[in-house]
Order: sequence, then C-alpha cells, then structure tokens
Amino acid sequence: MARPKIALIGGGQVGGNIALLSAQKELGDIVIIDIPQAENFIKAKALDISQLLPLDGYDAKLSGSSDFAAIKDSDVIVITAGFPRQPGMDREDLLKKNLDIMTNVAEQVKLHAPNAFVIVVSNPLDAMVYAFYKVSGFAKNKVVGMAGALDSARFRSFIAEATNLSSQDVTCMVLGGHGDTMVPVSRLATVGGVPLTSLLDADTIKAIEDRTRFGGGELVKLFGKGSAFYAPAQSAVEMIESFVKDKKRVIPCASLCEGEFNVDGYFIGVPTVIGADGVENILTFDLNDDEKNALNNTLTEVKKTVQETGL
Ligand code: LAC
Repeated sequence: MARPKIALIGGGQVGGNIALLSAQKELGDIVIIDIPQAENFIKAKALDISQLLPLDGYDAKLSGSSDFAAIKDSDVIVITAGFPRQPGMDREDLLKKNLDIMTNVAEQVKLHAPNAFVIVVSNPLDAMVYAFYKVSGFAKNKVVGMAGALDSARFRSFIAEATNLSSQDVTCMVLGGHGDTMVPVSRLATVGGVPLTSLLDADTIKAIEDRTRFGGGELVKLFGKGSAFYAPAQSAVEMIESFVKDKKRVIPCASLCEGEFNVDGYFIGVPTVIGADGVENILTFDLNDDEKNALNNTLTEVKKTVQETGL
C-alpha cells in the first residue's frame, strides 16, 4: 500500500515544522507548496528534513514546489498559508489579507485534490475554515480547522505547571472560536481522572483560563515578529495522525455545526472525532448556564468575522 500523501500549503514556520514532525512519525510522503519567491526555500526545507531522517531511521519522501499540480491526489492537506499575526494585530486584522489567499488555495485544492481531507490552520481560523468550505464546496466531513487542539494543549500545559503534575495526565478541552472569547471548560478538566476543581482553587483556575484565552497573544508579544509555530504544528500533526491511522481520537476542532451545541452553520471548536472519514462525529454534552453564555459569546464573535468574509 502506498504511503499517505500529505500536502502542506504554506512552508513557513508552522508548515516546516509540520513537515518535520509528520516525517518523524512516518505519517506519509510530504509535499510542501509555497509561492514562487519561496520555492527554493521550501525545496531546501524538504531536502534538509530528508537528510535528517536517516539519522533516526525514518522513511518519508519530501519535496517542495510552487506548482499546485504537485498536490494531485493528496490524502490530507494542511493549509497554513497566509500572513501571521504581528504585535498589536488581532486575528481579525488578518482577515482581509488572508481571505484572498484562502480563496485561491480553495480553488486549487478543489481542482487538484478533490477528495482530500483538509485541515485549515491559517488565521483568523474560524473565518478561514468557513471560507475554504464555502469556496471549495467540499463535504463538511472533509474540512476542519485546527484551533482547539492547540488551545487545549496550552490549557493542559498551564494546568500541569500549576499542579506540578504531568501534562500527560491532564485531560481538558477548549470550546468555541480561536480568539480571546474561547471557552476553556475547567469544570470537566481532570488530572489522572481527578477533577481539576478539587486540585486548584477557583482563582488559580480562573487565572489559567485567562492565560489560555490569551495564549496565542502572549507568544506574539514574546516573539515580536510572527506567531507561535511549534505547538501549532504538533497540534495539526495530531489531527493528521488521527486521520491517516483512523484512530478516532476526540480532539477539539473547528467543525461545521448543524445544531450541535445550538450552533447552526458555523465552524466552531467542539469535541470532534477524527478518523478515516475525516470529521466522523461531533460529541455533544450538556453545558451549564455559564458555559452556555460563554459559548454564545464566542459564537457572536465567530459570526462577526465570518460575516466580514462576505461569503
Ligand atoms: C496561536 C496562533 C497560531 O494561537 O493563532 O498561536
């Protein structure tokens, strides 16, 4: 059986690290696509990673191209193309800049890889995944946005730090949009099955929730130029892995809701089952009143950015 083909649209910091991490997990052969001005740069990244693999004994073919035809028949496509956030910019400021790019990418993906499972990473995430879905006309199970995996990983790392326990044992989720109104659901977070609410006091938990909500911004400020890339890349890789290995992992992802959590017609972060059919299911459960209000609040923000796309 041939290896899965993974196409990465955008070979910047996030795309490059997805290539590296996917190759090290032997998830498939990888083609990186970027604009003609960056073609040598991505060819170099592909070559450099190819030369690292023998050291660890991993097999994957990597290549780079500025020609979209190279994504032909990809099984999975990850779109990171677009401008990153700069200090002072929120994700929405990016919308106009990145919408043109996403429209073009969606048309090219539809043309060359109409059966691919597509993971959108570009910001503002909630609007970009919606734009891809609308322009491509892909089925809803074939389009998903990466945000909750990252936001939940941040939440996990902060919980691990505050409890001085292994992040490996922290289970938690962040729902809603990938912006400052996202909803870390502390009530359901556990460490090794022990409720977080019995491990930390309410003020500490509140501080962790706030840090999670502004986790992307904290990094934009620290980097001074551009946004985070290691954890975003690994988050996308978890989603690729669950798809190519049909693991059916439950990962918070921006999925198209049609009634789940009372959301209709928008991509928003919800617990999503990812397997060989792409988005195979959205797991729902009862929210308490505070969580419902918080989700309504984040939905209002998501609707605003989606409306700005004019799609
Ligand atoms: C972040 C950017 C990638 O959250 O949205 O770091």
